[in-house]
Amino acid sequence: MVADATLERLFMMTREEFWQMADDQKLRDEYAANDDLRWLQTATMDELREMFLEYRVFTIYFADDLSLLVAKMPLGRLKSLMAQLVSEELGEGNPEASHIKLLEDFIVSLGVPPERLTQPTDPENLKLLTKMRDLLLSNPHTYGVALRGMGGECICQVYLLTLFEQFRRNPFVEANAEQIDWRWWDIHAGPADSEHNSMMKAAVDELMQEDPASVEELAAGYQEAKILLSQFWNKIYRQVRTNAAQASA
Ligand SMILES: [Fe+2]
Ligand SMILES: [Fe+2]
Repeated sequence: MVADATLERLFMMTREEFWQMADDQKLRDEYAANDDLRWLQTATMDELREMFLEYRVFTIYFADDLSLLVAKMPLGRLKSLMAQLVSEELGEGNPEASHIKLLEDFIVSLGVPPERLTQPTDPENLKLLTKMRDLLLSNPHTYGVALRGMGGECICQVYLLTLFEQFRRNPFVEANAEQIDWRWWDIHAGPADSEHNSMMKAAVDELMQEDPASVEELAAGYQEAKILLSQFWNKIYRQVRTNAAQASA
C-alpha cells in the first residue's frame, strides 16, 4: 500500500535525506513554476486586495500557534528561538510593530477600507488553520517544530519571497508603489526572514544530530506544513480568481 510505503520511507529517513527533501532551491523551483503565483503579475488591484484580506488570518494563527509550541517544548535552544520568533511576531512589546499590524497597514495601503480587515474568513480556510492547530497540539513537539517552526520560517519564507517577486512585477503594483506600505514585506521578503530560515534550520539540524529518531517526526510535520500551506493558498486563489471570472462574465 502507498501509505505504508510512505510511512516506511519516513521512518527510515536520514538527516541528509531530510535536508534533501527540505531543500530551499527545490521549493524555489516548484513555486517559481506555480501558475497561481505567476498569475499575480497580471492580477487586478481588486484581486490583490481580496487575496491579502483573506491571507490576514493566517498570520494571527501563526503567532498563536508558535506560542502554543513554546509551551510544549522542553528547555533549550529551540524553545528560546521559538519564543524569540513569537516576540518578533507580536512586535516585541509594541503592538504597532507586530507583524499582523504591519500586514494590516500594507492591506489598507492597497486601498482596502480598514473596516473590512476583520471581515469573516472563508470557513474552509478556518478549518485548515484549526486542523493545523489540532495537529500541533496532538503530536510531539518535534513534529510541531517542523509544522509551525519550519512551516512558517522556511516553507512560508520561500513562498512569500516568490509571491513578492511575482506581484512586485504587476503593473498596478508598480504604478502604486509609492503609496504602498512595504514594511511587512521588508521583513518577510528581506534579510530578517531569510535569517530566521537559517536559524531555524541550524537549530533543527542540531536537534537531529542529538536525537536521530526525531527525523521521522520532523519529516512528517514538514510535509504536512507544505500540504496545508498549499491548500490554504489554493483556496484563496480559487476564491479570488473565480470571483474575477464571474465579475467579467
Ligand atoms: Fe512574520
Ligand atoms: Fe520570520
